[in-house]
Amino acid sequence: MAQFGTVFCDHMSIARFENGSWGEATIQPLAPLSMHPASHVFHYASTCFEGFKAYRWPDGKARIFRLHDHVARMQRSAKSLHLPVPDANLLAGMVEDLVRKQLGDIPEPPSSLYLRPTLIGTLPNIGAAAAPSTQAMLFVLASPVGDYFAGGARPLKLLIADTIARSTEQLGSTKTGGNYAAALGPTLAAKEQFGVDQVLFCPGGDVQETGAANFLLLSDEEIITKPLNSSFLYGITRASIITLARDLGYRANERDFTVAELLDWAASYEAALSGTAATLTPVGRLVYQGREILVRDGSAGPNTERLRRALQTIQYGEAPDTHAWLTEVS
Ligand code: PLP
Ligand code: COI
Repeated sequence: MAQFGTVFCDHMSIARFENGSWGEATIQPLAPLSMHPASHVFHYASTCFEGFKAYRWPDGKARIFRLHDHVARMQRSAKSLHLPVPDANLLAGMVEDLVRKQLGDIPEPPSSLYLRPTLIGTLPNIGAAAAPSTQAMLFVLASPVGDYFAGGARPLKLLIADTIARSTEQLGSTKTGGNYAAALGPTLAAKEQFGVDQVLFCPGGDVQETGAANFLLLSDEEIITKPLNSSFLYGITRASIITLARDLGYRANERDFTVAELLDWAASYEAALSGTAATLTPVGRLVYQGREILVRDGSAGPNTERLRRALQTIQYGEAPDTHAWLTEVS
């Protein structure tokens, strides 16, 4: 399978917001976009996106995982950026139509079709730094994908960064390009200096998340993760893992915790990253103040494996969809 995110299906879905309303969505051949160079997005970063997956089942149909939750998150992101908010039916319909069109291109599990709705401000006005984009374009890309982290589900190594934030207070829970731009420099520096896979952002000692996934601790009894607040992205995988953990009798302990607590717990708890791209990937080592700390014995733990399987068996159609998370497309 090609590197995650580098291969695309040959069609995209697209809709435009002009003169106060959304036009009809159309499916078009994937092609470069023609845009005014003064478009708001190029200058003032009026952009947000979503990422989620459709799976091919043995019956030949596709199932999209938690489509409506991702649509709702995109609406919240659009609202927080003062972009025109796409109608839920419009966006969900664009995704379903595109998946239907590309049904034959969905690889079999564990691979999937990654879906990437993107909303950008297209108002041609470089004076609008402090004004919203009243024109917008919404498009959906589809990309067959395998693993996000090279090397599959091998345990990751994270740098604990306790002085820098991944985002700002007002945009932490918005899925917007600027947050990834902010995380890029620190992540590249950490890779080069410490050979880590990702940075765990813990500003002021508050353990938050990595550049593209949420962070969880797991034991035989409980899972610990930060409660929702405006500083980080409300992962839908995180929410799914919490629900499945409760189903299996774990206690879901949503609480703030510090770097000092994390370092104390690393000897006995498993650690993992959760996200659409990451699924549930074990964390084996932490680097803090130049010191390397093993998480348990550094290998993937049984609770991480168990919960990842619980999620995947629903996504792949091997276990019943008891929470109605899947949207069928045929
Ligand atoms: N946090 C960030 C910054 C992300 O980019 C992602 C990926 O989408 C997540 C968390 C996990 O979110 P989800 O589980 O909804 O994919
Ligand atoms: C996702 O998990 O969908 C993400 O957004 C991660 C992405 C930045 C590759």
